[in-house]
Amino acid sequence: MRITVIGCGYLGAVHAACMAKLGHQVVGIDVDHRKISALSEAKAPFFEPGLESLLREVQETGRLTFTTDMSAAAGNEVHFICVGTPQKKGENGADLSYVDASVEELLPYLSPGDFVVGKSTVPVGTAERLSNAVQAQEPAAHLVWNPEFLREGHAVADTLQPDRFVYGVSDGSEEHPAVAALDEVYAIPLSTGTPRLVTDHPTAELVKTAANSFLATKISFINAMAELCEAAGADVTRLADAIGMDDRIGRKFLNAGIGFGGGCLPKDIRAFMARAGELGADQALTFLREVDAINMRRRSRVVELARELCGGTLLGQRITVLGAAFKPESDDVRDSPALSIAAQLQLQGAVVTVTDPKALENAAKRFPELHYEGDVDAAISGSDALLLLTEWREYVELDPLTLIGSVGTARVLDGRNVLDAAKWRSAGWAYRGMGRP
Ligand code: UDX
Repeated sequence: MRITVIGCGYLGAVHAACMAKLGHQVVGIDVDHRKISALSEAKAPFFEPGLESLLREVQETGRLTFTTDMSAAAGNEVHFICVGTPQKKGENGADLSYVDASVEELLPYLSPGDFVVGKSTVPVGTAERLSNAVQAQEPAAHLVWNPEFLREGHAVADTLQPDRFVYGVSDGSEEHPAVAALDEVYAIPLSTGTPRLVTDHPTAELVKTAANSFLATKISFINAMAELCEAAGADVTRLADAIGMDDRIGRKFLNAGIGFGGGCLPKDIRAFMARAGELGADQALTFLREVDAINMRRRSRVVELARELCGGTLLGQRITVLGAAFKPESDDVRDSPALSIAAQLQLQGAVVTVTDPKALENAAKRFPELHYEGDVDAAISGSDALLLLTEWREYVELDPLTLIGSVGTARVLDGRNVLDAAKWRSAGWAYRGMGRP
């Protein structure tokens, strides 16, 4: 099929490359010239495992091109909207200006029988509004909501082999023409048995925000248990192992630590609360305020633990923060708990050095006041305390016996509960975890 992908960020660039991989003829469109020229040379403008080799592979076939010119959408049959919906400044709601602008710009290029397919995470009700705009321009075009569930760091696999597809169509029926069109787009993953659900517009929009709210709640639940474990002298990692063996609960997303961050979960739960308020259903989501509060409390708890670990004061302590990205295998620092903790430590008088294998450039743009060091050995040398805040494999695999010779004082705070506490202690380190004795 001939496909347009509007927005070439973490979602759109991966989606465009994957659609070409599935055999379609794809053009990726973005207003950012820098992004487009990088992508045109098969260079990923951000770090995502497997993306660059996929870009090279599909660009060699001639099936994938990039441009800043919206008129390239003309003649295509399916137009995906993959632009960002960040949190509005000073408010909880989502900023829909990029979604609105991209649909508005696309309208003149629509032909009868075209499909506009929303993938961005939007407040419920957006699809109906955009559907009206599409039909006012071209009555024989259709708007579908087809939410994306990809995780950064696993985005290529999540797009090519997702857990499920959700198609939100205006009448919620299997007979809607968009269902056959999307079945053709996703023919390969569907042929391997990937389930797909057809719903109405609002249900499809809510599926995404409900899924992210559930994931956020699961993380905050285990972090609340970590607070209790700390108070009671229990171990939250063993507790998670034990409750996770009940397959109604499951062990995934039960890792207690410094809490969730990133460009999705924090802003999505806030936008969801804001939208529920507009709909007069705010009571249904007041629990998400608590989910958010538990999450934010983790960040101050780490600072307190670091102070305790450093003997009661942070003043002048040389602290090495291992990890700046909001999670491993990503260079994304949007709402990264690691960076927010590093900044708080520095404000309280610590001499902070941040290291990360991929995210330092983005981190320096967001927090220019912090000190960054790309070489992990140099970052650790002479340190008074190591704080493992993003669980990159190379940090998890650090050898406590080798390291002890290069630090000033052997103290480690394991913000993600990924280190072997007994091994670090027996090597001579003062070890603290999150919700572990
Ligand atoms: C999330 C959803 O998982 C994805 O389905 C959706 O499409 C977009 O939002 P992403 O933001 O890429 O994806 O990251 P995710 O893997 O969900 O992690 C989010 C945050 O939660 C990270 O900061 C991570 O470190 C943290 N986390 C995750 C925990 O603290 N504990 C866990 O057990 C799992």
